[in-house]
Amino acid sequence: MKPIADRTPTMVQEFKNFYHTSPTHVAIAPGRVNLIGEHTDYNEGFVLPVALTRDVRFVVRPRPDRQVRITSLEFDASADFDLDHLAYDDSTLWINYIQGVAMMLEAEGLRLTGMDAVLSGNVPRGSGLSSSAALEVAAAKAFMAVSGQLDALDGPTIALVAQRAENKFVGVQCGIMDQFISVLGKAGHALLIDCRSLDYELTPFPADASLVIGNTKASRSLASSAYNERRQECETGVDLLRPALPGITALRDVSSDALEANKDRLPETIYRRCRHVVSEDERVLTMADALGRDDLAAAGRLMDASHASLRDDYEVSSPALDAMVEAMHSAPGCYGARLTGAGFGGCAVALVEPGREQSVADAIYKYYPKVTNIWPDVYATPAADGARVIELL
Ligand code: GLA
Repeated sequence: MKPIADRTPTMVQEFKNFYHTSPTHVAIAPGRVNLIGEHTDYNEGFVLPVALTRDVRFVVRPRPDRQVRITSLEFDASADFDLDHLAYDDSTLWINYIQGVAMMLEAEGLRLTGMDAVLSGNVPRGSGLSSSAALEVAAAKAFMAVSGQLDALDGPTIALVAQRAENKFVGVQCGIMDQFISVLGKAGHALLIDCRSLDYELTPFPADASLVIGNTKASRSLASSAYNERRQECETGVDLLRPALPGITALRDVSSDALEANKDRLPETIYRRCRHVVSEDERVLTMADALGRDDLAAAGRLMDASHASLRDDYEVSSPALDAMVEAMHSAPGCYGARLTGAGFGGCAVALVEPGREQSVADAIYKYYPKVTNIWPDVYATPAADGARVIELL
């Protein structure tokens, strides 16, 4: 678990080498780890994520025209587009996130300026830590900075713009959580988000707790098809419950008691999907309360219950994720652990006693490869700040 170096100076140097001039801004947006509230955002429920110290950043300079040129350090590739001719690019997939953000910002009424940019990210890609949302939000901030419109949109609107880019331009049906925390996260805090009203509340992250993330490095090939299937199953649940519970528009409106009373209206699988969402919403609010009281044992138990519900009722865990969670649990000082993000691979997160991070990491390295034959990655992270722009000149 090595500390992460600041990449901005290297990026500035790369910018100068590439464009033979100096950049004006750096726009930074973090990935996230969700403490609890999984698969609740698209059911208009509650989530409790924190922003990571790992981020995506653009070092940029405005151009006098509407051209956008981007060189990516990790992809070791460059791409460009014209703000007046945005079109899905089949050959360079990452550029579509940036094009999508430009399109949705202009749809929101901003008139964008072109830019030259160097892009770099250290959020592990495709691992359930929201590298895509970080890319979208960083792109939005970069465009707003070079266009002199940094204050044109509030935080929730930037998150919605970024989500629309992913839903409508890239074609992935994600909820709002990842973009929201990437914009609005705050160091030392988790963010309790009401995904219906988009109201949010900062919850101080206890000083006597730490987070350890275990990356299973297992393939997530099923993730997108199963994600869409689960969304569909939740909608089916709402449709079947509505005759008995008039006025409900999402599972957010259904209590555990109401679900149990109407269980017979639902096929078994749909019932279990609904039971996960309804109980998870309740766990999020209880967890925010437990963190507020510094009751880490209760918080840990809620994370365990969340994992069990995701594994047994929602069926989005995997043998690798279960092994990761078990490895985390085997270490002394672990309060609780669960998969984080959409599931089917990716990462798990553990709430641990400060000072025990390395022993949790050691337990993961010892146990997880034996069960899965995969060498994992482990990161410790504090709750970090959301997106920001720094002037360089
Ligand atoms: C992905 C999506 C989020 C959310 C989670 C599951 O990360 O992008 O919107 O639905 O899965 O909680």
